[in-house]
Amino acid sequence: MNMYDNKPLFIPVTTPRPLIFGLSLWNMSGFRRNMLSIWSDKAYRARKLSFKLLNQDYFLCNSPDTVRRVFLDRHDIYDKKSPQMRNALEPLLGDGLFVSDGELWRERRKACSPPFESSFLPGFAAIMSRSAVEMADRWQAMPNGASVDVLNEMARLTAQIIGRTVFGDDVSDEDAAKVVNGFTEYQHTINQIDYADTFGLPFLRGLVNPLRRRKAARATAEVHQVIDQIIERYQQGNKPDCLTLLSVLLDGDVSASGKGGCPLHTEAARNEAIVMFMAGHETTANALAWTWYLLDGCDRSRDKMYAEIDQVLQGRTPTLEDVANLPFTRAVFEESLRLYPPVPLLSRQAREEDEIRGAKVKPGTIMLVLPWLLHRHEKEWDNPEAFYPERFMPGNPRPDKFLYIPFSVGHRVCLGLRFGLTEGILCLATLAQRYRLRLPENHKVDIECRLTLRPKDGLPMILEKRL
Ligand code: HEM
Repeated sequence: MNMYDNKPLFIPVTTPRPLIFGLSLWNMSGFRRNMLSIWSDKAYRARKLSFKLLNQDYFLCNSPDTVRRVFLDRHDIYDKKSPQMRNALEPLLGDGLFVSDGELWRERRKACSPPFESSFLPGFAAIMSRSAVEMADRWQAMPNGASVDVLNEMARLTAQIIGRTVFGDDVSDEDAAKVVNGFTEYQHTINQIDYADTFGLPFLRGLVNPLRRRKAARATAEVHQVIDQIIERYQQGNKPDCLTLLSVLLDGDVSASGKGGCPLHTEAARNEAIVMFMAGHETTANALAWTWYLLDGCDRSRDKMYAEIDQVLQGRTPTLEDVANLPFTRAVFEESLRLYPPVPLLSRQAREEDEIRGAKVKPGTIMLVLPWLLHRHEKEWDNPEAFYPERFMPGNPRPDKFLYIPFSVGHRVCLGLRFGLTEGILCLATLAQRYRLRLPENHKVDIECRLTLRPKDGLPMILEKRL
């Protein structure tokens, strides 16, 4: 198949590959900024790799069968979070879904799943489109050619969407801002802790500035206080008109899917609301920012996506029904998630011995699964470094579901998968109807990878009105 019609392909920014794989003192500072910088060419071709670092065993699962083994077939012997990781996240998330394992995780996953069923999606989709229209209106008030930080703008948009879907519309701007700022502050700290713990390098935790730790503690207290007050008002009968994620968590599934409810006690509902907010905010924002960058670099894809959106919507605000009629817009977003998976590194810890591809896995081994490497694997993809949305168009074979894993896969697959995909497509379609976003000349985009993958130092872009 000639996928490429002999047209030049856009090769977007990537990370430098060292000649030799590994982490050493000389590349430690690069690693701290971007933990993808330790992987040499070998890691983009290998199916598995095992190595030892400071007495800690690692096993890199780098093929569909190895990923399947850890995330699905033997998921029962691989814990989601190492004890260190739990320490990092527990102050904010408590026993939330994201950090729990075993029976507690099963219970919480069950309680948190109803709002993500199809019946709720139309209401959430309306919030997504309306929030994107408000952003386009705000841009409208700026002079044509104004420059904005698109990463910030997308973070603002997705925070608004998740805020409205978790808490409802009537939460004050001040309360919403307190929650967003609290998260940002906390994330600055755990960003530093997380990569240390993922790689079992607890000594790096010492590098976290004590002042930052205190700030994070204050931020946590503030986030908890705001959410507790929202819950209190809710329990006193001050309920929003429509169902929110929080109302479903507190009352159980009250009507939409008709299934029996599974209400959570107040503290558990608060913790899960925080999980939703944290898991569903920065990920989609980063994905949208990378998508604007990719569209700017590839005229062909941009023209094709804009033509599809104009033809399908004819100037209307998109609804959930439109999503099925925007296959190229969806393909653009999926290709963006391939090239820049917002969560580029997943880890588990082996509780028992296992054998994978003939290699022994000892208890305690940290299992690494990197969507970043799998999505760019040279033996699995045609032109892996190129931006080519057509590969996700209906009619072309879908990639193996254990190879293309922006939302993870198996038992711990992202609960917000459909939510996040719908949100990305609706926000793109709404904003692209009115704007083209252009990188300023001479701006060099770089990659920062901590807990999530994002453009380093933001993404300045110029807003050009289309209408
Ligand atoms: C483009 C957007 C998104 C991406 C790329 C993404 C990616 C992921 C990934 C990779 C995981 C698994 C992490 C791991 O195994 O360590 C995850 C888990 C999760 N995500 Fe998302 N996510 C997105 C949007 C959302 C949204 C919008 C929500 C909620 C509204 C959400 C809620 C969750 C939850 C609750 C979990 C934990 C599931 C569990 O452990 O059972 N995500 N997400």
